[in-house]
Amino acid sequence: MLAEFGVRCWASPAAPGVAPAAEALAGVAPASRAPGAPGAVARQTHGAPASEVVAPPAAARRTPLPRVTPAPRGAGIGADATTVPVAASRADDPVSGERARRIASLDWTALRAEVEACTACGLCRTRRQTVFGVGHPEARWMVVGEAPGEQEDRQGEPFVGAAGQLLDAMLRALRLTRATDGDAPPAQRVYIANTLKCRPPGNRNPAPDELLRCEPFLQRQIDLVRPDIILAMGRFAVQALLRSSEPIGRLRGRVHAYQGVPLVVTYHPAYLLRNLPDKAKAWDDLCLAAEVAEAAAAGRAPGAG
Ligand code: URA
Repeated sequence: MLAEFGVRCWASPAAPGVAPAAEALAGVAPASRAPGAPGAVARQTHGAPASEVVAPPAAARRTPLPRVTPAPRGAGIGADATTVPVAASRADDPVSGERARRIASLDWTALRAEVEACTACGLCRTRRQTVFGVGHPEARWMVVGEAPGEQEDRQGEPFVGAAGQLLDAMLRALRLTRATDGDAPPAQRVYIANTLKCRPPGNRNPAPDELLRCEPFLQRQIDLVRPDIILAMGRFAVQALLRSSEPIGRLRGRVHAYQGVPLVVTYHPAYLLRNLPDKAKAWDDLCLAAEVAEAAAAGRAPGAG
């Protein structure tokens, strides 16, 4: 990704035996350890030309920022004109009602079956198939996107189109993978899911009602994975998880929380494909997320992965 982003960075630590992402991407020097890791700060060049943007190490790049408490569950997605409020106490409330409570108790197998059979909104009539999610169930990273597009609707996997290729390159640059085969340690595994499990026709924006009805699925996925870090990509992921309709540009650059899980906001890969200069900011966001993930891993008992 670094080559694609045109950004230099201090990369995440490489696990033994894992090919450095920079080499995979650009055939350049091996990666160093991450900022903040003991005795580890070293500069990545990644073959980027001298004129490219350089992201400074964490200590210089950003001072600790206060966490942002998300709005309460059931408070409704956003408060702008494009969203609808939720009556939190109603039994049929999409987010806190009986259906949502039942979904919150499902295991992976039952949850997948529930998604496949879902008819809670009109998208069930136009989808080819549902797009559940992909990645290791014990991943330390979770990426949350928006909704399946045409390719995802065909293949049944999130982020397999052009935006997905960019996302994979971004993840590779941090030595992260969505693959479930292979022997990647949990710290390098990513689980990817969308706020919507079905494609909106013509790739239109998700409707507020669709987001609400689909939300219990994402909530349960997050609960089951219990990642160390959530990367929320794009405004619909942010609306669903942070209950915020603030622009991405105002929310990125600091660590938020979703039900106790640290969350970093960044631009959607599809947006980045259209707005190349913002790739540098997205890379900075990924570096911030990597720092959070590394801090969580450092706090874990030795041998826990
Ligand atoms: N964009 C998303 O947000 N998710 C996908 O799965 C594909 C494109």
